Amino acid sequence: MYSRDQTIKLQKETESLLRLIGNQSFPPGKIGLLRDVLRFHEYRYYILNEPLVADQEYDILYKELEKAERENPLLISPGSPTQRVARDLTKDFPTVQHLVPMLSLENSYDADDLVGWDRKGRELTGLKAIEYCVEPKFDGASISLIYENDLFTRGATRGDGVEGDDITTNIKQVRSVPLEAAFSSYGINQIEIRGEVLMTKKNFQKYNESLAEQNLAPLANPRNSAAGTLRIKDPREVSRRNLEAFLYHVSFYTHTEAHSKNRELLRTHSGNLEMLWNLGFRSPQKEKKVMKGIESVIGYCHEFEARRDDLPYEIDGLVIKVNDIALQDQMGMTTHHPRWAIAFKFKARQATTTLKSVEFQVGRTGAVTPVAKLDPVSIGGVTVGSISVHNEEYIREKDLKIGDKVLIERAGDVIPQIVKSMAELRKGDEQSIHFPKNCPVCGSKLAKEEEEAVWRCVNIECPAQVVEKIIHFSSKDAMDIRGLGEANIRKFYELGFLNDIPGIYQLPIDKIGSIEGFGDKSISNLRTAIEASKSQPLHRLVYALGIRFVGETTAKVLASAVEYLPELKNKNLEDLQNLEDIGPKVAGSILRFFQIPDNILMLQELEKLGINMHNERQKKSIDGHLDGKSFLFTGTLTQLKRSEAEELVEKNGGNILSGVSSKLDYLVTGEDAGSKLEKAKKISSIKILSEQEFLRIVGS
Ligand code: IVH
Repeated sequence: MYSRDQTIKLQKETESLLRLIGNQSFPPGKIGLLRDVLRFHEYRYYILNEPLVADQEYDILYKELEKAERENPLLISPGSPTQRVARDLTKDFPTVQHLVPMLSLENSYDADDLVGWDRKGRELTGLKAIEYCVEPKFDGASISLIYENDLFTRGATRGDGVEGDDITTNIKQVRSVPLEAAFSSYGINQIEIRGEVLMTKKNFQKYNESLAEQNLAPLANPRNSAAGTLRIKDPREVSRRNLEAFLYHVSFYTHTEAHSKNRELLRTHSGNLEMLWNLGFRSPQKEKKVMKGIESVIGYCHEFEARRDDLPYEIDGLVIKVNDIALQDQMGMTTHHPRWAIAFKFKARQATTTLKSVEFQVGRTGAVTPVAKLDPVSIGGVTVGSISVHNEEYIREKDLKIGDKVLIERAGDVIPQIVKSMAELRKGDEQSIHFPKNCPVCGSKLAKEEEEAVWRCVNIECPAQVVEKIIHFSSKDAMDIRGLGEANIRKFYELGFLNDIPGIYQLPIDKIGSIEGFGDKSISNLRTAIEASKSQPLHRLVYALGIRFVGETTAKVLASAVEYLPELKNKNLEDLQNLEDIGPKVAGSILRFFQIPDNILMLQELEKLGINMHNERQKKSIDGHLDGKSFLFTGTLTQLKRSEAEELVEKNGGNILSGVSSKLDYLVTGEDAGSKLEKAKKISSIKILSEQEFLRIVGS
C-alpha cells in the first residue's frame, strides 16, 4: 500500500505536524495532509500491526484534525478519519438487498472429499490440473461492503443471503475497514466486496474478563461475540469491542476504460486479494497460497490445520477457490453454492454430551457458581467433564436441565462453554436445576444484591471463602508462592496448619515435614518461596488481597497512586474515581474493603510479618538516574529475561514503551532484532544499545 519512500515521507510529515501543533492555529491548507498522515498510521496499526507512532501521538494528531474540521466545517470530507465516530444511538437496521446474492460454501472434511470435488471440476472444464487459491476460513460474522467513487457507502450483514441488515454505522467502527479506498486507480466506480468480521482471541478474552469482573456471563466464542457486536445499537460500544475485518471476495463491480492494465489483477482470485491489500484492506494476502493440482492443496490443508492455534484469530477451516475468474464463471453454481469453491473444515471443536448434574462451588468473594458435570467428552484433544454455568440467569437463558443433551464448544485456547441445550431431544424426565438457598459449605443463608446476577454466601468466615482467598493470594499472578498451590493449601487448611492469609508466613514448617510426600527439598523450596514473596512489588500485594472488581490492571493503578499501602485507606470515593479507569462501582468496592476492620488488622499483621507495603518504584525513582527516559527491548536478550530488564529500567525511574516512535529514547537490541530495529534506525533521536551497553547504563 505505501512504498518505502512514501513511508519515510509520511513519517517525516508526522514529525513536522507534531511540531507544528500547539504552536499556532492549524492551517486549513494542511488538513488534507493531516488526514493522509492519520490514515497512514491507522494502516500501520490496524492492518500491518506495526505502528510507527505512540498512541498518544496519534491522539494528538486526531484531536487536531477534529478541531480543524470544527473550525472549517466546509472542509469535512465523508472519508475523513473523524467520520467513523457516531454519537447517536442507532434506531434500527433497515433491510437492504445485496448486489449479488451471498451464497454459502459446500463443505469437505477429508482428502477423499477434496479429490472428488477436484475430479468434478476437471470433468466440467476439461482441464488436466486446476490452479487453486487456498486461504483461511475465518470464523466470524459475514459482511458485505459497497464502495462507490472510492467511498465506503454501505455495510450489510449476510441476512438470508439475498437481503441483509444495513449496519453501515457499526462497520465504520471497525478500524481495519477503510472509509476511502482508491478503487478508481483500477478504473472501478462501484464495487461490492465480502468478508468476515471477527474478534481476535486476545480481544475476546479481554472482553470476557471484563464481563466476568462485572459478574456477567461470558460469551461462548469469538464468533458469537462478533455477530452480537454488529447488532449493538450503540456505535461507541461497537468501537470499544475492537472488531477486525478480513475481506476475501469481490462479488460485483462496474468500471470505466481507465487503468485497464491495473485491472488485470481482477482476472484471478489471488489478484483480487492483492488489489484489496494494495488498497489498504486486511485481505488474506499473506495467508493465501496459490497451487496447482489437488494433491498439493491437501498437503497444505493438513499443514495449516496443525498450526491453527498459532493464529491470533479463530479459523474453522480453509477455503479452496478456483483461481481463474473466467474459469469460475464457466463452472457456475448449484442452487446453493458456487462449484468453484469448497470449504475444508477442520476437526470440530464442538461436541454433544449429557448434563449429568450441577454442583455449587463457593468462590473467594462468596459467589456461588453452578458447575455442570458432564459425561466426559473429548473436543480437539482435550477431555471436558465439567463446565461453569455461571449463574441462575445463564441457566435460564440457555434453558438447561439435568439430563439434557447439550452442545459444547472449546474455541482455541478459550475455556469450554455450553453453546445450547437441545430441547428437541428431551424425553420428559429431565429435571430443573434448583439453586440452593443456603451456602453448600457453611450452611449460612445466601444473599443477592439488587442488579446482581450472583448469589453470595456473606459469612466471611465461610471455610470455602477463606481457602479460596488464600489460594488467590498465593497464586502465580498475585504473590506467586511456588509450592503453595491449591492442593497444598487445602491440605494445610484441613490439618489446621493454615487458617488465614497471614498464616502463610507462620506455617509450622516442622509439622509439614512430617506429612507424607514432603521431603527436605520441597520444604526448603516452600520456605524460600514464602520468604521471597515478602518483597513482591506492591501491585502484586494489592491484587493478592482479592478486592472485588480489582483485577491486575486496577491493582497497578492503585499501587502507583500511593507510596505506602495503608495510604489507600485515606482515599475517599472521589479520590479513587479520579484514578485512571476506576468507576463508581470499583471505587465503592475498594472503599468497602478498607472500611472492614478485619481487613485492616490483616494488613497490619502482614506488615509485622515483613511483607513489603511500599511502592519500591516511587521510592527509588527519586534518585533514579534513568528518570523520565523511555526504553524498548527487541530481540532475545542473553543475560537477562525481558521482564528482569524492564524491571531494572523501572526501578531506576525509566519507563517502557510499547512501540518505536519519536518518544523513544533507547532501543535495547538482543539477538535477532527485527523490524523494530529497522524502524528505530529511521528516527535519529533514538539511541540504539546492545545488551552489554544497557547493563552498563543501569549499573548492573
Ligand atoms: S468465499 C461465493 N472465503 O464461510 C463465495 N467464505 O460457509 C463466498 N467464510 O458465507 C464465500 N472465510 O461467511 C469465503 N475465505 C473465505 C471465507 C468464507 C469465511 C464464510 C463466509 C461464507 C461461509 C460459507
